[in-house]
Amino acid sequence: MSKKIILTGDRPTGKLHLGHYVGSLKRRVELQNSGEFDDIFIMIADAQALTDNADNPEKVRENIIEVALDYLSVGLDPAKSTLFVQSYVQELTELTFYYSNLVTVARLQRNPTVKSEIQMRNFEASIPVGFFTYPISQAADITAFKATTVPVGEDQLPMLEQTKEIVRSFNRIYGEALVEPEILLPDNAACLRLPGTDGKAKMSKSLGNCIYLSDDAKTLKKKVMSMYTDPDHIRIEDPGKVEGNCVFTYLDAFCKDEYFEEFWPEYNNLQEVKDHYKRGGLGDVKCKKFLIKVLNKELAPIRERRAKYEQDIAYVYQVLEEGSKRAREVAQATLADVKAQMQINYFEDKELIQRHIERYQK
Ligand code: TRP
Repeated sequence: MSKKIILTGDRPTGKLHLGHYVGSLKRRVELQNSGEFDDIFIMIADAQALTDNADNPEKVRENIIEVALDYLSVGLDPAKSTLFVQSYVQELTELTFYYSNLVTVARLQRNPTVKSEIQMRNFEASIPVGFFTYPISQAADITAFKATTVPVGEDQLPMLEQTKEIVRSFNRIYGEALVEPEILLPDNAACLRLPGTDGKAKMSKSLGNCIYLSDDAKTLKKKVMSMYTDPDHIRIEDPGKVEGNCVFTYLDAFCKDEYFEEFWPEYNNLQEVKDHYKRGGLGDVKCKKFLIKVLNKELAPIRERRAKYEQDIAYVYQVLEEGSKRAREVAQATLADVKAQMQINYFEDKELIQRHIERYQK
């Protein structure tokens, strides 16, 4: 049976937040602990982060340790998953160079993620080539590890499509060497795209609407208490809306029935709370206080592990260094396959050399 391999990762441009957690990190840990995968690679995509932060290497440099701490805190385990740094696996850039022959400019221009990111960054007039082509480098990341499964948020769908196209083109032109990956999306709608605390579509550092995994209880409380709810729910007696109401979206993503017994025994489940809120008579503050308890409960083991690893930063760097070495060995093997299929393995090809010897033998 063919192997099941995971590759996924994050750009180290800031600490990871609850959106990352429900959208991807939580699932990764479940997959890791399911024992169903032969290999798991989790990449800190520093080279990709530089494609739109070329003038700010300091930001990338400072956030590698933050992302690594977040990874370890959520329960990614170096004994089960290889955590590594993208730029230490040089083979990825070499693969990118060869794959770029298989992709047209028009195809990259159509990529919806790249399109919206170009807008967000005001890159319209001057797109760095490296940024424009990062979907190709992402295909290299995925295929270098022969990944079958890529657990990411839905914003990454176009990247996976691009990767599949590259794999198909490569295998058609040069012969089968690469594996077509499948995307694995979060299964809960609230988790697909957790809104920011201000109700905006997405948590994003630049909007200042994130709750970070590393936020302490006091910071978390402050952020939840000022969270966007239903602007028309003015008096407690007023009927309230739960759609688009952050408190309820977050509860959809984090709440478990058992938390009611522990924290809010007046209700049996979230549906009862929602019904009451919709009827009127249930205030935002009560709901927010419950959400704070739920989040603190969910974050407790994460905070505990973080506190431990923060006291051993040298170990965290060692995990990344060893992971990067191991990742490199795997990528080297794939690159050797790729070069053999592309017939650019001249010195390893004894037959080629022999044939050329014979061509000129008198
Ligand atoms: N683009 C991803 C992000 O923005 C990071 C990433 C880089 C990635 N290469 C990848 C994710 C390969 C999955 C697979 O966070």
